[in-house]
Amino acid sequence: MNEKILFDRFNNITKVKIEPKGVEVYIAIAELVAVSKDEYDDKLLEALNMLSERSVKNNYNYLLLTCVSSKGLDTKVGVVSRNKETAWKELEVICSIIETLTHGFVRCLHTNDFFDTVEECITPQSLSPLNFLMRVLRRSNAYQIRNKVIVHPLSVIPYPLIHTAREYQYLASVFSRGSIPIGHLYSNPNLKVMISDEHILRHILIVGSTGSGKSTTASVLADKVAEKGYAVVIIDWHGEYESLLQGSKSVTVYTNPLKGSVLEPLSLEDLIKREPLSFIEILESSLELTPPQAHILEDAVNLLAQKFTGQGYCIDLIIDMIQNSAATARWFTESREALLRKLKPLSSSYLNIQWSKLSRIKIEKGKIYIFDVSAISNTRVRRIIASLLIRSIILNAQYNNIVKPIMLVVDEAHNIFHSENPLSTLIAEVRKWSLGFTIITQAPSMLSPVVIKNTNTKIIHALKTTSDINAVISSSILKKEHKKLVLSLKPGEALLVIPEVVEPILIKIPKL
Ligand SMILES: Nc1ncnc2c1ncn2[C@@H]1O[C@H](COP(=O)(O)OP(=O)(O)O)[C@@H](O)[C@H]1O
Ligand SMILES: [Mg+2]
Repeated sequence: MNEKILFDRFNNITKVKIEPKGVEVYIAIAELVAVSKDEYDDKLLEALNMLSERSVKNNYNYLLLTCVSSKGLDTKVGVVSRNKETAWKELEVICSIIETLTHGFVRCLHTNDFFDTVEECITPQSLSPLNFLMRVLRRSNAYQIRNKVIVHPLSVIPYPLIHTAREYQYLASVFSRGSIPIGHLYSNPNLKVMISDEHILRHILIVGSTGSGKSTTASVLADKVAEKGYAVVIIDWHGEYESLLQGSKSVTVYTNPLKGSVLEPLSLEDLIKREPLSFIEILESSLELTPPQAHILEDAVNLLAQKFTGQGYCIDLIIDMIQNSAATARWFTESREALLRKLKPLSSSYLNIQWSKLSRIKIEKGKIYIFDVSAISNTRVRRIIASLLIRSIILNAQYNNIVKPIMLVVDEAHNIFHSENPLSTLIAEVRKWSLGFTIITQAPSMLSPVVIKNTNTKIIHALKTTSDINAVISSSILKKEHKKLVLSLKPGEALLVIPEVVEPILIKIPKL
């Protein structure tokens, strides 16, 4: 399809027609010039902020066009509308806003040379625009144009700073129902952001690029939730929570199987006896077992479930059983060898964990338990141990063998809650056993969609790359219009999405 853009100039307005789509818009244009050398930078920015707010409110589109050419910088502001009258009237309004807010230091000159600007820009004369740009950039941020100085208009991000009195009132009423303070509104530090048990038990998702502040936020959440009497268990993928929680008033208990301690619920014997299928499925998905391999494993696990005496480490026993099983057919021997190779990194000698000698730490109310898996170098094994702990805690919650309520924080959760892991589908059920998950990831596209759907509260930190942003938008965690805002967030700043409020809320979460 051949697209053509036609410009038609009327007295004070340009008509732009895109063929063959038949799109027709009017653009009313004014030139922005400065009448003083200084004084206006911040004010112009303020005026541009005002435009972005008007744009959000009234759905007008504005145009800021700067041409860098041998003649200097040429900056135009315009209003784009399907209606000629609207475009012209709105240009009057925004020119008055700009002139008022910059105290008259920036003037709006009505012109109709939109096309001239474009033409000038696409047919540069003697000096290359790049050279010119380099030259002006060397002088601070003030650019010389035809004996006048003007700031280059920067792209302005429409921060959702302004809430109406009614909106504040509504937000205050929502947060007054919560009792767990995690921070405050960005626009009003007096308005505390308080979440409720309902938010915790309907699960929380924390997303953001690496370094955006996710783990810090999770440590704040852990601290506040423990203060409310929850038992908190953190699966610490990178071994960073001990230091993150140094400022916490709650008792923090550090466990690490490689250093001799483990959380009591992690009992493979118990899991094999009560839920052998869960145990098999976790190994099957994490080790990517073929159907024959899974079959051999299943036989061994079922046999162990019947015969287990309480002595020894289950995985070593399973490996022994498989090794000693009588080979019948060739496919069996081959599958068995492959399965044994996959199981080997889980054996106690390979892992260097003395399972029978580990001290088993009981989980109590109001305390934070760190389960540090960072020293397990094999990622698959790390995933399996973490998954087995999560599955065991769920099992204990189901049978009332553990204190409640309990919050389970899973950092770098894409390693665990992916589509293949059977744990992902359990997340919808655990609320009834007073178990809430906080799931943290920089790669939401790698999480199972079931997990995203079942996390009702979302805390979105900065997303630094287009692919990270697109992943968040495509999983409908966030809408397109918040793209720029999310790019610009600093650590500790986040968008909070809760079911009670339609739009995301910009909040600040101070460190412990
Ligand atoms: N609320 C905050 N206030 C100030 N600095 C913060 C805050 N949250 C995080 N940071 C800083 O940002 C950096 C990254 O934080 P971290 O929580 O490790 O991010 P992530 O887990 O997303 O990689 C750290 O240096 C941390 O001190
Ligand atoms: Mg982190």
